[in-house]
Amino acid sequence: MHGLLSFGVLLALARLTFAGLPDKIYGVNLGGWLVLEPWMLPAEWEAMGGQSCDDCSQCIGSEFKFAEAYPDTVDQKFAEHWSTWLTQDDVNQIATLGLNVVRIPLGYWIVEPLVNRATEHYPRGGIKFLQSGLQMLKNAGIQAILDHHALPGVQTADQSFTGNCTSDVEFYTDYNYHRALVWTAVMTSLSHLDPNFGSVFAIEAVNEPIMDAAQTPGYGDFQTNFVQTVRAVELILGIPVPGLQLDTSVSTSNFTSAIMNVASSNVFNSEVTAALVDAVPILVELGAELAIPEIFNFDLAAAPLHNSREPLVTTFMDVNWQFDNPPNPADAAIGPQGYDNHLYYSFGGVADPNPTAYLTSICNLQRVQADAALGDSPLWFGEWGLPTQFNATDDFLFEWADAQKLAYSQGKGWIFWNFKVEISELAGDLARQWSYFEGVKLGFLTENPSQVNNASVCAPYVTSS
Ligand SMILES: *[C@@H]1O[C@H](CO)[C@@H](O)[C@H](O)[C@H]1NC(C)=O
Ligand SMILES: *[C@@H]1O[C@H](CO)[C@@H](O)[C@H](O)[C@H]1NC(C)=O
Ligand SMILES: *[C@@H]1O[C@H](CO)[C@@H](O)[C@H](O)[C@H]1NC(C)=O
Ligand SMILES: *[C@@H]1O[C@H](CO)[C@@H](O)[C@H](O)[C@H]1NC(C)=O
Repeated sequence: MHGLLSFGVLLALARLTFAGLPDKIYGVNLGGWLVLEPWMLPAEWEAMGGQSCDDCSQCIGSEFKFAEAYPDTVDQKFAEHWSTWLTQDDVNQIATLGLNVVRIPLGYWIVEPLVNRATEHYPRGGIKFLQSGLQMLKNAGIQAILDHHALPGVQTADQSFTGNCTSDVEFYTDYNYHRALVWTAVMTSLSHLDPNFGSVFAIEAVNEPIMDAAQTPGYGDFQTNFVQTVRAVELILGIPVPGLQLDTSVSTSNFTSAIMNVASSNVFNSEVTAALVDAVPILVELGAELAIPEIFNFDLAAAPLHNSREPLVTTFMDVNWQFDNPPNPADAAIGPQGYDNHLYYSFGGVADPNPTAYLTSICNLQRVQADAALGDSPLWFGEWGLPTQFNATDDFLFEWADAQKLAYSQGKGWIFWNFKVEISELAGDLARQWSYFEGVKLGFLTENPSQVNNASVCAPYVTSS
């Protein structure tokens, strides 16, 4: 009996141990959940009290505007949304479809003390839903990327995915870089200390920064500080990081006290140290709110999670996401790192708006090679879908899905946008080209994500180079 019991315990621990990167990523984004983009769920948004308009800054078209308009009910309305947009059934379906990764878009406001409530308005309470969602995902064996999708100060103009649809872009400033580093320290700590976060293997610094690097001053330094913040937390916890060591020994198992000890040494620069120090009171609060005793004693015999953890895969949009002499995130790497590119043909600028041009473009994609030549490897395609600038036939969508999957699998793999979108009269045909679940139902996407309907789809389009 005893022998059986301890065997069970060992098995349970083994299941908590996730190697860093899967061999190939077959994933979906959990978009529309903790960062709500109204276009993905137009009827629900309207029922909540939101609005739709051509310029999303001119109506209640983002979380910010919603929270400003409904200060008394915003938290309750969003709790309702968070508990229904991602359910156990959705997680089961993701697992049944053989997907191994989800990318979880998150706003800075999920770490609530980072919000300047005098001028910034966002719903509260999301962190508990992240915790319970991650628990479901872990139990289903699905690995997770925490994606900082909506940055403090807004990282790009006129997009509801930043939480605030506005032309006023202020992320690229010391104040907001600091807040993003505190967010990073908090999320890294939770990933290694809260068993519910046990399947988190990667953390992404900034979703879709402005492409013109002339407009993102300081972003290269931020990349360096982002990696160092993640590694600082890991070293304090005793997780080995290749090529980096603390020059002080940590003599307490109270994590927040340990941070303060290390902060008084000078392993890390002042920005990183300041972020660690500002994360401390937030972690003390979260330790109580989320019931994570490991924050106060990371040597708890009952919770040796971090002993089996590997360093997180620090993740950035690839260097070729930007132009105009961009910083190369490869220069910031310490330990495992990954690169993310997003490829949408439907917004223009990639290929002429017709089926032959689309297939010719995707079947000759050189992105993986171009990035690798600059050290940005492994690369995965963290957002893509089936939308087009023309009315696509079913026959085309079979080819379009296959050709993209084949192209992205030349790299580390792919993550479809999105796992689902709303199915309603108001949403119309949206799901046909934007929903993974619907794409599988319609047959464009194969039931086994590693397969395609027609492996020769690109044969007529490959041009010799
Ligand atoms: C967000 O938008 C509001 C107006 O909708 C504006 O007042 C506010 O300053 C914006 N916040 C940031 C950080 O840009
Ligand atoms: C751990 O340290 C923090 C300060 O960083 C303190 O507030 C807390 O009470 C300590 N907890 C325990 C259990 O010692
Ligand atoms: C696509 O089809 C719709 C409805 O049939 C039509 O209104 C629209 O003009 C078409 N769009 C293009 C780009 O052909
Ligand atoms: C697969 O695609 C190739 C290239 O377009 C085509 O020649 C072939 O007929 C397709 N096979 C099937 C089974 O549709």
